[in-house]
Amino acid sequence: MTESGSTKARIFSGVQPTGGLHLGNYLGAVRNFADLQDDYECVYCVVDLHAITTWQDPTRLADQTREITAAFLAAGIDPKNAIIFNQSQVRAHAELAWVFNCVARVGWLNRMTQFKDKAGKNREAASVGLYGYPVLQAADILVYLATHVPVGEDQKQHLELTRDIAGKFNNDFGVDFFPMIEPLILGAEARIMSLRDGAKKMSKSDPSDMSRINMTDDADAIANKIRRAKTDPAALPGVEVLGEDGTITEAFVEERPEATNLVAIYAALGREDLRSVLADVAGKSFSDFKAMLTERAVDQLAPIGAEMQRLLDDSAYVDGVLRDGAARARAIADPVVEQVYDIVGMLRA
Ligand code: AMP
Ligand code: TRP
Repeated sequence: MTESGSTKARIFSGVQPTGGLHLGNYLGAVRNFADLQDDYECVYCVVDLHAITTWQDPTRLADQTREITAAFLAAGIDPKNAIIFNQSQVRAHAELAWVFNCVARVGWLNRMTQFKDKAGKNREAASVGLYGYPVLQAADILVYLATHVPVGEDQKQHLELTRDIAGKFNNDFGVDFFPMIEPLILGAEARIMSLRDGAKKMSKSDPSDMSRINMTDDADAIANKIRRAKTDPAALPGVEVLGEDGTITEAFVEERPEATNLVAIYAALGREDLRSVLADVAGKSFSDFKAMLTERAVDQLAPIGAEMQRLLDDSAYVDGVLRDGAARARAIADPVVEQVYDIVGMLRA
């Protein structure tokens, strides 16, 4: 049994409110969040404390937080079932992160590739928060004693670090307190690439808006971006590009990254396996295939975008969801921090 009386395993995941959500976030994360809600006890967090590790305009942060929340709801996450809240409303995250700062080693953080990517050339000027980002992430998950974490492929290294922190804490204090978490990295959609460059991840930080499909793009914008998506001169491939494990071979991905990405997006949107998609599209021209892809993308995404818009016009409702979710989250997280302080030997007078 968990604290809340459920016998289901607990999931935690988070998304940063650093700007609009795109198709990669949806297929790699948010859609999975909705799929998992019946089989797990789910805690989904808009991680505003993580967001400020890079500069966020204080006049926009609250609305960005509402936008991610609206996307969660529009994607079908039920706030009566799953816990949806924003991180800064639950102080336990920051408190456990401090304890974990004293458990994690500088050498471990020095290996984190996301820090190197985000800090860029001028590492000296990056915030200390950006460096400690994965420690706060570990606290997010473990303050709920969650065991499963659905994320895109890019978060694998951070989840390894979470396991290292849990292991060292248990070992240092001679307890069996924190669980060993399992990443849930689902399918080919775990890594959706840019529409302008199949070797680069689709990302909100890409300066070109044509590189991504945003969750709030309307049908025209989606069609336009797919029409102008980068391709190559050959026709669409068939099932011969699948390896024994049913995924597209590395060699093909390297040779034709854009074709791979568009096929993967098409399959993921339709929840169709790659083999049946490839059997269907083999030999087609990109212009025919792009028409199919546009239809599928508009079909799936336009209703979600419209529902997000409706929710954003009702910010009182969205704020209410976050308020209720935060109260439920605190009921789980606060006692865990108290137990941690007790284990560490803090005086509770
Ligand atoms: P972020 O926007 O970086 O906070 O990411 C939110 C979630 O979306 C995380 O689980 C990421 O792993 C996932 N994600 C971000 N970009 C992509 C992408 N291009 N393809 C698949 N998943 C992604
Ligand atoms: N680092 C994650 C990302 O950029 C967001 C995140 C913060 C997260 N805390 C988390 C994801 C805890 C999973 C679990 O996508």
